[in-house]
Amino acid sequence: MHTQAKITALGTYVPERVVDNHYFESIIETNDEWIVSRTGIRTRHFAAENEFTSHLCIGAAKSLVEENNVMIDDVDFIIVATVTPDQTMPSIASQLQDKLGIAHTGAIDISAACAGFAYGIVLAKGLIAAGTHRKVLVFGAETLTKFTNWEDRTSCILFGDGAGCVLVEAAPTGNILSVVTGSSGDGGKDLYMSNMRKQVNGVDIITDNKIHQNGRAVFKWAVNTVAEQMKVLTQRSKLDINDIDWFIPHSANMRIIEALCSQTGFPIEKTLESISTCGNTSSASIPLALHRGLREGKVKKGDKIMMIGFGGGLVYAGVVMEWGV
Ligand code: UT7
Repeated sequence: MHTQAKITALGTYVPERVVDNHYFESIIETNDEWIVSRTGIRTRHFAAENEFTSHLCIGAAKSLVEENNVMIDDVDFIIVATVTPDQTMPSIASQLQDKLGIAHTGAIDISAACAGFAYGIVLAKGLIAAGTHRKVLVFGAETLTKFTNWEDRTSCILFGDGAGCVLVEAAPTGNILSVVTGSSGDGGKDLYMSNMRKQVNGVDIITDNKIHQNGRAVFKWAVNTVAEQMKVLTQRSKLDINDIDWFIPHSANMRIIEALCSQTGFPIEKTLESISTCGNTSSASIPLALHRGLREGKVKKGDKIMMIGFGGGLVYAGVVMEWGV
């Protein structure tokens, strides 16, 4: 039995509506120059009113099937990393099992914010190594704009909606060289979703699901933590940092990517990002950046790719893989 995990296909989806920075000038005190210079964001996609995270996942799954000519009806586990599910229950993964016509599969959603996609790959690798599963679909998908505080100018300009997914299959030789996971739970107060409960007619209802962030604190933690985990992943992969062809940190802010490169000496030209065109899409940002790198012809077969997600928790997870082998 094969127990090596191999990432074999990628798909992504973003909603149709593109929103540029000028949109915000009419709702809060801001301007295009501030947003571009402080974050690197130029545009982002907003989901339609009746478009939810599960719909974005279906778009990403279609892209995966059509662009890679693969079948997913024999997938035996679905993992959806999201902090913006359509509902708390049922899970998006269960909805996808039904809507994608996958007959026999395990299905769970996981919550690891912007590190969710990398966490999903770590879990898929584990399921395959255990010999219990052979074909796992991992999604990172968010509709953050449905949970945005439109009165908070430091955060509302950041977020966008999108989805990405990969197929992780059992194979004689794998292409995941190393993984890392971790948590700094004491920073939970710096990035969280408020779930205020209020009694209405004796019933407990959630009245406010909004994202709150202490941007400066998360920025500092992110740069220090990710720089450290780049070293851990390199060592675990038995590689030198110069062997890494592409580095894909979570796209939270272009200045975080620049700070990471200046702190570690990693060349910025070898990074891939989705922040400039998609904003911060949390768990979807890494697959969106990778897909863009592939579409632009940058990423080639055999390239070694380091991805590190980080965010609310605070949590992080990273993966080094060889693309297409
Ligand atoms: O995805 C999960 C992980 N998240 C992150 O990694 C986010 C990390 N943090 C960040 O990306 C940045 O901290 C932000 C983009 C969120 C904020 O950028 P910043 O450079 O840290 O800004 P700041 O909050 O320190 O604010 C600087 C100034 C303030 O004005 P004063 O006090 O210096 O006069 C803000 O009021 O910029 C002002 N400001 C704005 N001005 C125009 C804040 N938001 C805006 C705005 N437009 N939208």
